[in-house]
Amino acid sequence: MKAPKRIGILTGGGDCPGLNAVIRAVVKTVINDYNMAVVGFLDGFEGLVENKFIKLNSDNASGILTRGGTILGSSNRADPFRYSTLESGKLEYRDRSDSALKTYEDHGLEALICIGGDGTMAVSQKLIHKNIPIVGIPKTIDNDLLATDVTFGFDSALTTATEAIDKIHTTAQSHHRVMVVEVMGRYAGWLALCSGLAGGGDIVLIPEIPYNIDSVCEAIKQRKYRGRYFSILVVGEGAKPIGGEMVVKKRVEGSPEPIRLGGISHKVADDIEDKIQVETRVTILGHLLRGGVPSPADRLLATRFGVAAAEQVAKRNFGQMVALRGNEIVTVPIEDVAGKTRVIPPDSPYLTMARSVGTCLGE
Ligand code: F6P
Repeated sequence: MKAPKRIGILTGGGDCPGLNAVIRAVVKTVINDYNMAVVGFLDGFEGLVENKFIKLNSDNASGILTRGGTILGSSNRADPFRYSTLESGKLEYRDRSDSALKTYEDHGLEALICIGGDGTMAVSQKLIHKNIPIVGIPKTIDNDLLATDVTFGFDSALTTATEAIDKIHTTAQSHHRVMVVEVMGRYAGWLALCSGLAGGGDIVLIPEIPYNIDSVCEAIKQRKYRGRYFSILVVGEGAKPIGGEMVVKKRVEGSPEPIRLGGISHKVADDIEDKIQVETRVTILGHLLRGGVPSPADRLLATRFGVAAAEQVAKRNFGQMVALRGNEIVTVPIEDVAGKTRVIPPDSPYLTMARSVGTCLGE
């Protein structure tokens, strides 16, 4: 079977370092190895619905390997099947998937590469049912996609979080304070647990293990008895107390996943001050974690994923997402990962490791 001649590519969901590295890898591979033409849709699925695009070539896909963000723009709101528009000051939702299909056909495309997380894969799966042949590439700082050991973007965010924790350490020490560092990650604690371990956090709170505030306070007191007058807490934005709820920062109407988390660290800090009267400060890293240049590991992974996705398109192996298993690149059906979240399993070696080195997990 012959390789496609024209393909489209888009980046969906929240951005992360490494998106440009993937775009570069796909574009260079399909041009160099298969002589294809590439259309880049702007702002995720919005570009497909509204026919907003640029032609990608060896020129504009060059010099972007190290650049953060995405030259195509992204959106975590545009779902062609529930597309929101502001009409008379009110958000109205319509199924615009036919417009997406029309754009795809009008460009004479034979395949689409969708780079994104669980939400992007969920939309991709629905477009596959409309006969758009798709290959997916997993990205997100949250590292919460099923079927891949790691997503690109995670290592860069982990590096940023760890550097921040390192810096917080010195001021915590000087002032004998408790410092709470909150990191993103939605309903999965990968970023909190891994940066907590890498940065030597004394207490790490993750969504997968509802915390007991008394255990947290006890850990701080125990450190004090041992002459450690400061403590570092690393808290995932989805962490919650036993019997309590996650802290919702806002609802983004029109987004396929409207809930935005954030702010639990303030509750943790207030509760610590109330219970044991230790001066406590909060730093929320937020979108800082999505910015900056991709780490070398993410540049490599993004390039591997991009080249592998181009190969799958050439082979017309559609409906698949490229993934990393061990050190192998494999493909997995998009329907197996669409809309699902990979949280930290209770038997994760990272949890065992954390307990072994004396990290309090709020249990
Ligand atoms: O999925 C990536 C992510 O950065 C999450 O960690 C975070 O909860 C969410 O996106 C934030 O979304 P927004 O950019 O819409 O505030």
